[in-house]
Amino acid sequence: MLKTFSGFVLLTASMTIMAQTPTFDNDAKTFRLDGGDVSYVFGVNPRGELQQLYWGGRLAATDHFPQAAPMPEWASFDTSYTNTPQEYAGWGNGLYNEPSLKITFADGNRDLVLHYESHKVTERGFDIVLKDIKTAIFVTLHYSIDPDSGILARSAIIENKESQPVTIEQAAAAAWAVPPGHYTMNYLTGRWAGEWTLTQEPIHPGARIIESCRGSTGHQANPWFAIQSGDPDENHGEVWFGALAWSGSWRITVEQDQLDSVRITGGFNPFDFGYVLKPGESLETPVFYGGYAAHGLGEASRILHHFEIAHVLPHRIGEGDTAAPKPRPVIYNSWEATEMNVTEAGQEALAEKVAALGIDRFVMDDGWFGQRKTDHAGLGDWYVNTEKFPHGLKPLIDKVHSLGMDFGLWVEPEMVNPDSDLYRKHPDWVLNFPGRPRTEQRNQLVLNLARPDVRAYVYGFLDKLLTENDIAFLKWDYNRNWSEPGWDQLPPAEQKKVYVEFTRNLYSILAELKTKHPKVELESCSGGGGRVDLGILQYADEVWPSDNTDPFDRLTQQDGFTYVYTPQVMMAWVTDSPHWLNKRTTSLEYRMLSSMQGSLGIGANIAKWSDEEAATAKRLIAAYHQVQPTIVQGNLYRLISPRNGSEFSATQTVNRDKSQSVVFLFIHSTQEGRIFPRLKLQGLDPAAQYALTPIEDKPSPTTPTTASGAWWMNRGLDMSEDFRGDYQAAAFRLDRK
Ligand code: GLA
Repeated sequence: MLKTFSGFVLLTASMTIMAQTPTFDNDAKTFRLDGGDVSYVFGVNPRGELQQLYWGGRLAATDHFPQAAPMPEWASFDTSYTNTPQEYAGWGNGLYNEPSLKITFADGNRDLVLHYESHKVTERGFDIVLKDIKTAIFVTLHYSIDPDSGILARSAIIENKESQPVTIEQAAAAAWAVPPGHYTMNYLTGRWAGEWTLTQEPIHPGARIIESCRGSTGHQANPWFAIQSGDPDENHGEVWFGALAWSGSWRITVEQDQLDSVRITGGFNPFDFGYVLKPGESLETPVFYGGYAAHGLGEASRILHHFEIAHVLPHRIGEGDTAAPKPRPVIYNSWEATEMNVTEAGQEALAEKVAALGIDRFVMDDGWFGQRKTDHAGLGDWYVNTEKFPHGLKPLIDKVHSLGMDFGLWVEPEMVNPDSDLYRKHPDWVLNFPGRPRTEQRNQLVLNLARPDVRAYVYGFLDKLLTENDIAFLKWDYNRNWSEPGWDQLPPAEQKKVYVEFTRNLYSILAELKTKHPKVELESCSGGGGRVDLGILQYADEVWPSDNTDPFDRLTQQDGFTYVYTPQVMMAWVTDSPHWLNKRTTSLEYRMLSSMQGSLGIGANIAKWSDEEAATAKRLIAAYHQVQPTIVQGNLYRLISPRNGSEFSATQTVNRDKSQSVVFLFIHSTQEGRIFPRLKLQGLDPAAQYALTPIEDKPSPTTPTTASGAWWMNRGLDMSEDFRGDYQAAAFRLDRK
């Protein structure tokens, strides 16, 4: 599971010291990791506990820490053990904060105290072995640091070398600590069609939990946190952030402890959790990534984006630090046009229309298989519906290819409708408690992917589908959360390991499919953004952020999304107006520009488009293709946030060599005649000359068309008085001369 970092040191402008290899100071018993502008230091204290010492801006190579000294007790109520910020604390010995590991032994003992045992230096970090003071429970902590971004990857393997089974009741991937201070916590919340709300609140004493206990990542919260010193700020202040690479139930606890320091612990959600480890068995946690930025939330997200592009996403092309995924093809998706009424003739007619726009990939959505006419039937029966496609998928795929596009298909492999051949044959294959109701959501049940036979079925039909058809892309959907999560094939004590095995099997199917069909690309969709995390993004080339494609709502959603995830993976479709959700009417230009801030797609019923609309889309798709790498893989600056009812919003991206920049500006509704504020750009080369060209040219700026980077960043971009009204948008590119 643990990602190792390839590639070597890329010095950022402010860095003067070369990256260290991981260093262990044998006298002081300290471990030190340096990468990017970050240092991370921890050590073994005299009691043998692994204690965090420092996480922040890069220290000089000559700086040394003395041996870790445990925090003192606070009267007789808070022990030194609980006050000391441990890297991975067992629940025992009077620990009152969130434990990293909690175990029940066969004899009923529940005390676990982990002490340092040994360590190994690895290429980019350490493997550190802890052991319980009395029993043969071993924990190996993996640490590695990315030399470019300073992002740490941490995870744990828990091993039972006792002669009896033990039950793990709680297992974190890692615990982080930030010194006492005044902090704001940033996290993402939402709901179906309303994902990606950036929620910001002061950190107070006590614990704040963000989590999913739904079996998958969830729309309601995302496994990411950012702790900012002081008040939230895009460009100033220290930020410590982290993201958990796990697509099952998860929990991140942020607590300001009894002595005011802040600890963040995250991993498997302990709610309803239980993992029996027989003698000799082990459990590996997900990876918890953590990073530090000295200059606000904007820098924190830029660091994370580059890390995702360089180290997390699949299909990277190139070597080392230059490796990057291909910008996403511009897709057309049939869902909003035809919903489940897909037919060979209907899809071919759509394909002909969209090919003329410059679309790269045609994706047929739900409805092509089994007896799928509505969402009441067919899920699980992954054979082509011959009423709709009498000759199979081949004629449509051939047609799409002949039009110069590749072909993608929708699947929802982990689900079954009770009205399906699969369920009639295997009613025992779903998550359920025997004799209890099986709660349906969207008329469907969840297949228990943890079962080997279910895993084999799911892998088998997908492999066949990809072998028999020339499919470039799967939109992998997942349209409900778990209920009644029983696994009655196993003894009662072992059933709760479904929370781990389900997700592991999902990952292993994706990995195996990618190996066998290396060209196939994947999108993670879960009724929109219900399964977006750094775990699934090891396999998914892109994600569907929301079923809500309203271009104005998307501005705020995209703003929230980019605090964690790169625009490279942020699919954004242009759909019809008035929008089905908000009934809002917007121009095609506004919709296009809203979507062009991410990975562009078209999802409208273009059979109804006028020639003028088709020409507009074609022009803007061509303009997008020219600047797409800068938009999706450049440095992103959120210049004016659309949050909190803002009248205006703007984003800017700059490519890595600063030769190109793209700016998007949006007006919600001008009030009292205000014109768009002067927009001071960021991230350009101050000494270079940049020419400004409109991508969407209606509202012209009043600034010169060529000026220095210093001008654009200090004087800024002035829009003309014409740039007013409701739902207005403009976009420009700047090219270094
Ligand atoms: C989910 C997805 C949609 C569409 C439908 C199909 O809701 O988010 O984009 O694929 O399923 O049923």
